[in-house]
Amino acid sequence: MLFSKLLIASTIATVALAEYHVQSPVIVNHGYADGSDPIFDNLSREDSDFINKNLRVFDTNGTNCDQCKQRIINAKKLVEDNPGKEHVIALLLYKYCLNTSYRLYCQWTDFFFISETFNTAQTGDENVDSGYTGHTSANFYDNDFLQVIKRFNTSSDLDLEYYCYFKGNKACKLPATPDIDELFDIESWWPEKQPQHYEEPAYTNNSETFNVLHASDFHLQLRYKLGAEANCSSSPCANSENYNKVSPGKDYNFTTYYTNVNPDTDRLDFSFYPDAHYDEEGNYIKGDYYDFPAYFGWNFNNAPATAFGAFLSDAPALLLNNSLVEMKKLHEQKNFEFLLFTGDSFAHDGEHGGDDSLKYTEKFIFSSVKQYLNDLQVFPCLGNHDEPHYAQVAPQSYVRNSSYYWNNDYVSRLWIDNEWFDESKAQDLKTHYTGYSYVTPRGLKVIGLNSNSYYGDNLWTYGEQTTVADKFQNWQFLIDELVDSESKNQRVWILAHIPPNNYDVQPIQSHIFSRIVKRFAPYTIANMFFGHTHRDQFTVYYSTNDTSKVEDALAIQWVIPSVTPFTNFNPSFRYYEVENESFNILNTYNYYFNLNDTFTNGGDEPTWKLEYSSRDLYDPEGTWPEDAPLNATFWHTYASQPLQNTTDVAFNQKFMNYKYRLSVFTPNCTTASGKLSNTCFNDNNCFLNFLSDDNINCQKG
Ligand SMILES: *[C@@H]1O[C@H](CO)[C@@H](O)[C@H](O)[C@H]1NC(C)=O
Ligand SMILES: *[C@@H]1O[C@H](CO)[C@@H](O)[C@H](O)[C@H]1NC(C)=O
Ligand SMILES: *[C@@H]1O[C@H](CO)[C@@H](O)[C@H](O)[C@H]1NC(C)=O
Ligand SMILES: *[C@@H]1O[C@H](CO)[C@@H](O)[C@H](O)[C@H]1NC(C)=O
Ligand SMILES: *[C@@H]1O[C@H](CO)[C@@H](O)[C@H](O)[C@H]1NC(C)=O
Ligand SMILES: *[C@@H]1O[C@H](CO)[C@@H](O)[C@H](O)[C@H]1NC(C)=O
Ligand SMILES: *[C@@H]1O[C@H](CO)[C@@H](O)[C@H](O)[C@H]1NC(C)=O
Ligand SMILES: *[C@@H]1O[C@H](CO)[C@@H](O)[C@H](O)[C@H]1NC(C)=O
Ligand SMILES: *[C@@H]1O[C@H](CO)[C@@H](O)[C@H](O)[C@H]1NC(C)=O
Ligand SMILES: *[C@@H]1O[C@H](CO)[C@@H](O)[C@H](O)[C@H]1NC(C)=O
Ligand SMILES: *[C@@H]1O[C@H](CO)[C@@H](O)[C@H](O)[C@H]1NC(C)=O
Ligand SMILES: *[C@@H]1O[C@H](CO)[C@@H](O)[C@H](O)[C@H]1NC(C)=O
Repeated sequence: MLFSKLLIASTIATVALAEYHVQSPVIVNHGYADGSDPIFDNLSREDSDFINKNLRVFDTNGTNCDQCKQRIINAKKLVEDNPGKEHVIALLLYKYCLNTSYRLYCQWTDFFFISETFNTAQTGDENVDSGYTGHTSANFYDNDFLQVIKRFNTSSDLDLEYYCYFKGNKACKLPATPDIDELFDIESWWPEKQPQHYEEPAYTNNSETFNVLHASDFHLQLRYKLGAEANCSSSPCANSENYNKVSPGKDYNFTTYYTNVNPDTDRLDFSFYPDAHYDEEGNYIKGDYYDFPAYFGWNFNNAPATAFGAFLSDAPALLLNNSLVEMKKLHEQKNFEFLLFTGDSFAHDGEHGGDDSLKYTEKFIFSSVKQYLNDLQVFPCLGNHDEPHYAQVAPQSYVRNSSYYWNNDYVSRLWIDNEWFDESKAQDLKTHYTGYSYVTPRGLKVIGLNSNSYYGDNLWTYGEQTTVADKFQNWQFLIDELVDSESKNQRVWILAHIPPNNYDVQPIQSHIFSRIVKRFAPYTIANMFFGHTHRDQFTVYYSTNDTSKVEDALAIQWVIPSVTPFTNFNPSFRYYEVENESFNILNTYNYYFNLNDTFTNGGDEPTWKLEYSSRDLYDPEGTWPEDAPLNATFWHTYASQPLQNTTDVAFNQKFMNYKYRLSVFTPNCTTASGKLSNTCFNDNNCFLNFLSDDNINCQKG
């Protein structure tokens, strides 16, 4: 049953009206079928006529882009013309989507109203239970799409095009980004930059250094199941429902997978230890071996998942705890002053991303961090996976009782209870969607932001992009804090989950961010930290739009590797050696382990190793002065320029190897004709653009 190849899942429709009979489970095939049919079947004659009649309204001619735009326009008009019929219109939109696309697309890219709570009985936490245990829910009465549609400025072609590019499966091309000076008179947002702010402040007490830990993207996969398919066709793998589309023949032997990923190994001592865990003191308890081959045979899966995680899965609790144990050990040596955690606690398992499982995961992660690292100050951020219905955060300027505020309130409370923030910060954390400004005892200001405010998957970022510059008032908050620090000659670190130059970031918002950097670096902004891509990366911000001149290099954003292996990475985290007064970074140290070593090592704990230090790796000759920080100039010279030399495939490969933490699945950068592959060009070079539109437009086939 557990390892059945036929995927059966239950679905319920949580439509609140009595005639729709909430909570009636419907068995559906997990493929492209859809659990909403019974709801349609139960509609009143009037409502089903309404849907059928208006489906024809949606049936328009024209390009994909035209059709996508027309859909938004029509939807808004229908909502306006038919008060009280919003739920039927939502059903109609869903039906229309199903008619033109497939279910998962309709649920995630466009309609997103699916959530599934996980089985709380398994977790034993009685505080989180929605009563809908183990089912998929759809709320047609109040979903983000309806809310956003109501407010969408359908007279703005640009707004429609942004929606249809990011949310409409690229139905429209990415529009050219409008001039944000013309739109928003952005220079009026701050006092003019003074001549002395074009350089760093002078320091008097900068020789001492201290250490800072940085981890990101845990992506705890609560449903990770030992023995489940780890080489599956639709990831993340190792959930009980996963399977490999290529069914293993009767002669298949799953040792094949393990010898493929461990070509050098002579040990096939499978890590099938279902009870492996860490005790309260952080000691590893392996438990008993479970003999999968004896009970299931050698061909029951392409690759049965082992204890510490898989290349196509997120982090099982064992890996999360193991990484924290490792951080704790390092803390004992390096005496970290604080931990930066740049977000993403929840797994890439959106269909099970119900409110309760999100809460449970957040509590699990933050309590575990507290348990292992004890009194270490933590500066956390929420990622796109840490908000309800995946990345949905509504601006406060809208209804306060929106269904999403509970999450920011809940998380703020966890952080305060963990003593990472004082009780007096509670209101600030709520106002800024868990964002904050915090001055450390050494005088560094750390500003944390909720980056879902500029994320293309957050529906609430659409509809008024050309008229409302700062819907979430995050920029206002950031600028106020920067102006305040500038006046005090105080340096600032900015912390968020999503790098503002990533391909999934709203271009207008990305331009605004880069202007803030240009205004406040290098005098005030010292460093910026992000996660989200799971990759080990960096980007230099320049004072012009030209990335080739060293004298234009202005600021550096660090994008750090994930703990989750998803996809094809070795787990990793890092620490920084930081100057006492400038808060510049003198060096970085990354740690990792070879995930493939844990598959067949008899269930032993992974062996974490120092992977590299930035100085040793990118300046092996030691030409950069020892007392000079690893700032924008360093990264421009030793990494950005060599990467932009696309004939230097060897350097691009080296960068890629470390980006994947020397994983056995690191992409090969060399094409058959000896050139730089598009995969490596896109991944290495395009990310050097500090604007998301430039990054998008840089991508090759
Ligand atoms: C549809 O209506 C029937 C009869 O009222 C009811 O038994 C059934 O549970 C309903 N199904 C749904 C999905 O609401
Ligand atoms: C779409 O084009 C067809 C053929 O040209 C035409 O018959 C039909 O009326 C058009 N539909 C709409 C909604 O414009
Ligand atoms: C999709 O809609 C068109 C026009 O309304 C209709 O002719 C067609 O049968 C529908 N297809 C499906 C699969 O429902
Ligand atoms: C909607 O967009 C149009 C076109 O950009 C603009 O002229 C208009 O002012 C916007 N309306 C509102 C209410 O912001
Ligand atoms: C599968 O491979 C393992 C390791 O080589 C071996 O011990 C086992 O006997 C094989 N199973 C079958 C059914 O051949
Ligand atoms: C994983 O499964 C696919 C088939 O879906 C197969 O092509 C691939 O070789 C497998 N990976 C490994 C490392 O064996
Ligand atoms: C795991 O992969 C690495 C390459 O990334 C390789 O050097 C190592 O030998 C592999 N581990 C085993 C046990 O084969
Ligand atoms: C330099 O900074 C350190 C750490 O903040 C502090 O302990 C020390 O007193 C400072 N020294 C001077 C001379 O200000
Ligand atoms: C930089 O911006 C200027 C003015 O907007 C434009 O003319 C030029 O082409 C841009 N250069 C690059 C490298 O994008
Ligand atoms: C980086 O540090 C070097 C050496 O101290 C300095 O010359 C350079 O101006 C700095 N670059 C930036 C962007 O601050
Ligand atoms: C680019 O890389 C190639 C290959 O390593 C090298 O021969 C060439 O000199 C480099 N070009 C520049 C401008 O550094
Ligand atoms: C990468 O691909 C090239 C071209 O196919 C091949 O010559 C080379 O051996 C590959 N490198 C690795 C490490 O597999």
